Amino acid sequence: MSPNTSENRPIGHAVAPAWYAAGLNHVWLPYTQMKTASPPLAVAGARGSRILLADGRELIDGVASWWTACHGYNHPHIRDAVERQIAELPHIMFGGLVHEQALTLARRLVRFLAPADLDRVFFSESGSVAVEVALKMAVQYWRNRGVRRRTRILSFYGAYHGDTTGAMAVSDPHDSMHAAFSGVLPKQITVDLPVDEQSLAAFEMVLASRAEEIAAIIVEPLVQGAGGMRFHAPQVLRTLRAAADRYEVLLIFDEIFTGFGRTGTQFAFQSAGVVPDIITLGKALTGGTLPLAATVASSKVFEAFWSDDPAHALMHGPTFMGNALACAAANASLDLFEREPRLDQVAHISAAMRNGLELCRSIPGVKDVRVLGAIGVVELERVENLNALRQRFINKGVFIRPFGSVVYLTPAFTIAEDELAKLMDAIRHVLREDA
Ligand SMILES: Cc1ncc(COP(=O)(O)O)c(C=O)c1O
Repeated sequence: MSPNTSENRPIGHAVAPAWYAAGLNHVWLPYTQMKTASPPLAVAGARGSRILLADGRELIDGVASWWTACHGYNHPHIRDAVERQIAELPHIMFGGLVHEQALTLARRLVRFLAPADLDRVFFSESGSVAVEVALKMAVQYWRNRGVRRRTRILSFYGAYHGDTTGAMAVSDPHDSMHAAFSGVLPKQITVDLPVDEQSLAAFEMVLASRAEEIAAIIVEPLVQGAGGMRFHAPQVLRTLRAAADRYEVLLIFDEIFTGFGRTGTQFAFQSAGVVPDIITLGKALTGGTLPLAATVASSKVFEAFWSDDPAHALMHGPTFMGNALACAAANASLDLFEREPRLDQVAHISAAMRNGLELCRSIPGVKDVRVLGAIGVVELERVENLNALRQRFINKGVFIRPFGSVVYLTPAFTIAEDELAKLMDAIRHVLREDA
C-alpha cells in the first residue's frame, strides 16, 4: 500500500492531505494485507452518524466504529466531561491511588448491572485485556480455593473474544482470524454452542467427563459478533447457567459487544434472566470515545481473593488501568443512558431494520437476513471480492464494512430515520447490482 501513486489515492481525493501521504507508509493497519488492501479513507472529523472525509465528502456510518459510538460521534456531553477532566487529572496510576471518576464509575456500573450480584469492578484499557483478566480471575479463583486442576476454559466454535493470546485461545480455533496461531496457543476446550439436542448432548458429555479440569465457561451472550454475527436464543444462556451450576464451573459472559443496549436490553444477560459469575464490558462503555474496559466479578468470585495471603491477590495491573479521562467519558455515557431513551431508540432501529433489510431476502446470493436489537445482518452465500464490495458502499456515500460473507449494520442508537433508511437502501442497491 503505497500512498505515492495516483491509483492508490483514496477515491475522490484530488490531492491527499500532506499528513496522509507522509504517514501512510509508516502505519500497520488491523487485519489488513497491506500490499493488496484498498487505501484507507482519510477522516477529518465525525459528528452524529456522519464521518467527514478530508476530501470534503460525508459518509453515513453504519458501523459506529466497531459498534462503540452508541450516542453518535462527538456527543457534546461526553466531550465536555472529558474536557473538564483533562484540566483536572488526565491520568494517575491506580496502584495505591484512586480518584473520583473511577470510583464513581465502579459504583454506577454495579448499579447498572443490579439486581445481578456483579459487584467488583476491575478496569483495563481494552476488551481483549478485560477477557484476559476474566480468564485469570477464573483460574486463580480455583487456585486460591486449593483446587489446582481446574485450569481450562470451555468456549465455543464461532466465538471471538479478542486478539491477545489468552483471548485468542478461547476464540474459534479454526474459523477465525487466529487460525495462523493454531498449535501455539494455550490448549482450551472448544465445543458447539448447545442450541439443539445433538449439540446439547455433546456439551453435556464434555462437562460430564472433564468438569474437574474446567475453571470456567466463556460465551458471548446472544450474539457471536466478530465470529460471524450469529445469534442464539436466551434459552442457550439458561442452559449454560444450569450446567455451570451443576458442574460447579464459573460462567463468564463476554458482553463487550452486547453490553449497553446493543441487543435491546441494557445487557444481553437480562433477556435470559440468568446472571454470570464474571462479565466483561468494553467498547460502548465510553460511548466509543476513549479506550476502557471492565471485568466485573460477583461477590462469590471476589471472596476467593479476599485473604491474609498476599499470593491470593489478583496479579494484574495495566499501566492505564482506571484512566481518569476514560472513566469521565464512561460516566458521561452512563448519564446519557439514564437521561435519554436509548433502549426505545434501539427498539425503533430494530423495527426499521426488520422491515428494511427483510427486502434483501429475495436478492439472489442472500443466504439469511437477521436482526437483533440494533444489529442488522445480511449474510451472503459468498463474497468474491471484499475490497470491491466495501468500495461500492463508499461510492454510495455510506460506511458499511462487510467481513467474511456478512454485511451488517450496528449504527449509533441516535441515528436519524432517514440516515438508517439510506444505509439500508445502499445495501439493497449494492447487493442487487451484484446479483
Ligand atoms: C465479544 C468481544 N470480546 C472481546 C473483544 C475484544 O475487544 P478489543 O478489540 O477492545 O480488545 C471484542 C471485539 O470486537 C468482542 O466483540
